[in-house]
Amino acid sequence: MLKCKNINKKFSDGEKDINILNNINLEVSSGESIAIVGASGSGKSTLLHVISGLESACSGEIYLDNKLISDFSEDELCNIRLKKIGFIYQSHHLIKELNVKENISLPLLIANKKNSYVISKTNEIIEKVGLSNRSDFQIDKLSGGERQRVAIARSIIHDPKIIFADEPTGNLDKINAKNIFSLLTDLANYNNSSLIVATHDLEMASLLNKKLTINNGMLKSI
Ligand SMILES: Nc1ncnc2c1ncn2[C@@H]1O[C@H](COP(=O)(O)OP(=O)(O)OP(=O)(O)O)[C@@H](O)[C@H]1O
Ligand SMILES: [Mg+2]
Repeated sequence: MLKCKNINKKFSDGEKDINILNNINLEVSSGESIAIVGASGSGKSTLLHVISGLESACSGEIYLDNKLISDFSEDELCNIRLKKIGFIYQSHHLIKELNVKENISLPLLIANKKNSYVISKTNEIIEKVGLSNRSDFQIDKLSGGERQRVAIARSIIHDPKIIFADEPTGNLDKINAKNIFSLLTDLANYNNSSLIVATHDLEMASLLNKKLTINNGMLKSI
């Protein structure tokens, strides 16, 4: 499904370059779930952004379904994201001007799905993330955990084949975190989707197929 070869990523601190990802190699097969743990600032978000094609690598190759993603045009990459990829951002990136329902249905609206399908699928997902009683709320009227659940719903509504989740349960209490984590893993199992989760929660990480840690820009199994 996803294959990353010798990925390097540097950022400049203004004076010098700092290596954030150092020769990363990673393979994720269909239906496989992987946890990436590591200290704050170790590069988990950077890794997810780079391997999902949101940000470019300085060097290395990323293959999605055996196709090199650097060969895709920006339009092709957008189309692939819309169909195959779900990304849960650490900072949510919800649209404040839209309400809960509208934010969640956005991927289906952009993909020109039929109105009746958009409505039924949106209602189904809203219920799954426990936000039925908030569906008409504006985003700024929601708690941090509720916003996180909107972001999760939006990222899975199109049944993506690969889900990248950057600290998906970071703002949630233990019960909601457990529910949301089960929702993500159940959905991935049901659709045979791959799931790549950056998390600080070792208990959640141990529920996935593989646990990797990132340290000094290098990825290792634990
Ligand atoms: N655009 C950027 N320019 C310069 N440095 C950056 C940029 N983005 C990230 N970094 C640096 O890269 C390092 C890794 O950041 P990243 O956000 O990937 O860490 P993280 O492991 O996700 O941390 P956290 O657990 O706090 O979310 C940090 O030191 C950060 O300051
Ligand atoms: Mg992060």
